[in-house]
Amino acid sequence: FPYECLQPFRLSVSTLQSVSTRLKKDMIRGLGKHTHHRAPVKMLPTFVRATPDGTEKGDFLALDLGGTNFRVLHVRILEDEQRVVKMDSQICAIPQEIMLGHGEKLFDHIAACLAEFLDSHELKGQTLPLGFTFSFPCEQLDIDKSVLIRWTKGFNCSGVEGEDVVRLLREAIHRRGDYDIGSVAMVNDTVGTMMSCGYRDQSCEIGMIIGTGTNACYMEEMRNVKRVEGEDGRMCINTEWGGFGDDGSLRDIQTDFDLVVDKTSLNPGIHTYEKMISGMYLGEIARLVLVKLTEDKLLFDGQVSDALQTPGRFETRFISEIEDTGLENTQRILTELDLNWSLGDVRLVWLVCDTISTRSAQLCAAALATIANRIRNNRGLDHLKTTVGVDGTVFKKHPNFSQQLQATVRLLAPRCDITFLVSEDGSGKGAAMVTAVCPFCILLTFRPVSVSF
Ligand code: BGC
Repeated sequence: FPYECLQPFRLSVSTLQSVSTRLKKDMIRGLGKHTHHRAPVKMLPTFVRATPDGTEKGDFLALDLGGTNFRVLHVRILEDEQRVVKMDSQICAIPQEIMLGHGEKLFDHIAACLAEFLDSHELKGQTLPLGFTFSFPCEQLDIDKSVLIRWTKGFNCSGVEGEDVVRLLREAIHRRGDYDIGSVAMVNDTVGTMMSCGYRDQSCEIGMIIGTGTNACYMEEMRNVKRVEGEDGRMCINTEWGGFGDDGSLRDIQTDFDLVVDKTSLNPGIHTYEKMISGMYLGEIARLVLVKLTEDKLLFDGQVSDALQTPGRFETRFISEIEDTGLENTQRILTELDLNWSLGDVRLVWLVCDTISTRSAQLCAAALATIANRIRNNRGLDHLKTTVGVDGTVFKKHPNFSQQLQATVRLLAPRCDITFLVSEDGSGKGAAMVTAVCPFCILLTFRPVSVSF
């Protein structure tokens, strides 16, 4: 393979198997009462103990924070048609100074967006139940009590880590005093995705996101959830697999480029696996590789443009566009980046993008296979047939990501037959679904026996 710096991105099947074995161990550590505390894969109980059975119904509000945008939604669940209908939704931009500012400002901003939405949709008089999709690692103490462990992705607001996010939201709404909200159900986006897909396909028991960040949840046997009392039934566990490797266990597969991306990120040392997989980071990895190849005089006649030198300028969506059919996209993007390209350059840039997205899909597959194998073992099955609800821009927009991922999962979990159900707005609708299913799960819920983070 002629391009030395691309070599470390190529992972053999046996390396992927070894990654899966390491994750399997870390998942057990995360579930354990005494090992959870220091486990890099948090395996957080979600208090969701039931997937939808198709009888849920009603009107809900949903907030969705943690992806590309903040959104407010009005959702209706129609029991007769077994459908979740998005009545209205509104996107509110969150300016970067708020993403990095004080938490109180963030929640004031959220409360203001919600007020505006309720006003313009004449919903202020009603007190609808609210599903809050908050896509960060949280220690859930109850369905409406959820403490942020740490920010990930592009957020870093002060005064929120270690605090109950529902309380911060309610306080911001009370500060305004012009409206109120009803019961609140907090969910991670993976859980929302699993639940909204679960309404369509009742064998959906895994939710996976490959977007700005990456993560998955799945239905675990209660007897294995050592931090929560009770042995019977199942509970949805938010794995927070993005944190895999934070104890250095993936050092052998991290490339020099991964180390730079981590070091220059908002949260160095945190979410190692996510930084090799998700949309927030793939473009930057590609940019660093392109700079290196140019410095080595293998690209663009050795001339790096200012644009290519600028962190963040090579967006992850460029990778999807470049790998899409035809070379025109690549030529357009390289021209936009002020690069003097030849046809050879165009082909090499394609190879760089393909190498990075393939690794991302394979790593994601290794993690998904670990979960599927675990569910199969848990149930003592020779063969597992299951469905995973998936969402996220990387999975949805990249031309071959899904295919690569599925092919690798088949290799690593040969005795699992996995159907992929692409979620239509699971983060929004799923939160409403949890709110609808959860009066039922609260009744069945057990208290956590130990909470530490
Ligand atoms: C967060 C997860 C979330 C994932 C996908 C990660 O950074 O820690 O909670 O599910 O992103 O949005």
